[in-house]
Amino acid sequence: MSNDCADRRLPRHVAIIMDGNGRWARARGWPRIAGHRAGIQPVRELVEASSELGIQALTLFAFSSENWRRPPEEVRLLWELIGDVIESELPALNESGVRLRIIGERRRLSFSVQNRLHHAEQLTAANGRLELRIALNYGGRWDIAEAARRLAERVAEGCLAAHEIDEDAVDAELALADVPSVDLMIRTGGENRISNFVLWQLAYAELYFTDTLWPSFTRAEYEQALAWFAGRQRRYGQTGDQLEAAG
Ligand code: FPP
Repeated sequence: MSNDCADRRLPRHVAIIMDGNGRWARARGWPRIAGHRAGIQPVRELVEASSELGIQALTLFAFSSENWRRPPEEVRLLWELIGDVIESELPALNESGVRLRIIGERRRLSFSVQNRLHHAEQLTAANGRLELRIALNYGGRWDIAEAARRLAERVAEGCLAAHEIDEDAVDAELALADVPSVDLMIRTGGENRISNFVLWQLAYAELYFTDTLWPSFTRAEYEQALAWFAGRQRRYGQTGDQLEAAG
């Protein structure tokens, strides 16, 4: 597999829906939270692999706007786990040059989690080896609505004219404005849905769905997904003949 991002056979930005933790745990007769805990190891492996392979950005969907609807005890344990993991993994992430940023609505999160997220972002702000984005209390529609609201505020303040609102203007207001658009989206756990993950940035992404439950997702399968991506012809609205003629 080529390691050269410039030839576009390696995705610049990979986004992942980590699904199947609960079923993985249930299959072993364990509580669901054991599946979420087991889901940390593939996160470590994929962050390391992405960084080694030269992928610019990795976005992980850890808690959706809709996940609040889960049993309150699972929600509580998940946030405890997320807070602990961010804190315990932070030194290693920082040492390996990862820049961590959180996307999502933070106001509903506990002060303790908000503080840990803020600290992690500050500490890694100058890093540039891999842009890691973790989606927490995130929804793609929320993100687009927030962008629209901010643009409307600027119009109301007289700083922006309505006719100046185009795709670039919307893009610049989204939570992932500072990283390339998603090239490859991976979803584990056997469902073929987007589930309100990054919507705008998936416009031209290749979608890779696998039945593997997230805790069993390995670096080897990640590389298999990257190899599958490398074999896709991305046409962006053009014909295959046009692309071949352009070389
Ligand atoms: C979906 O599986 C998974 C989640 C809602 C949580 C994902 C969180 C982690 C892997 C841990 C934290 C990670 C980071 C990066 C801080 P599910 O519970 O919907 O599984 P099911 O479909 O089998 O029920």
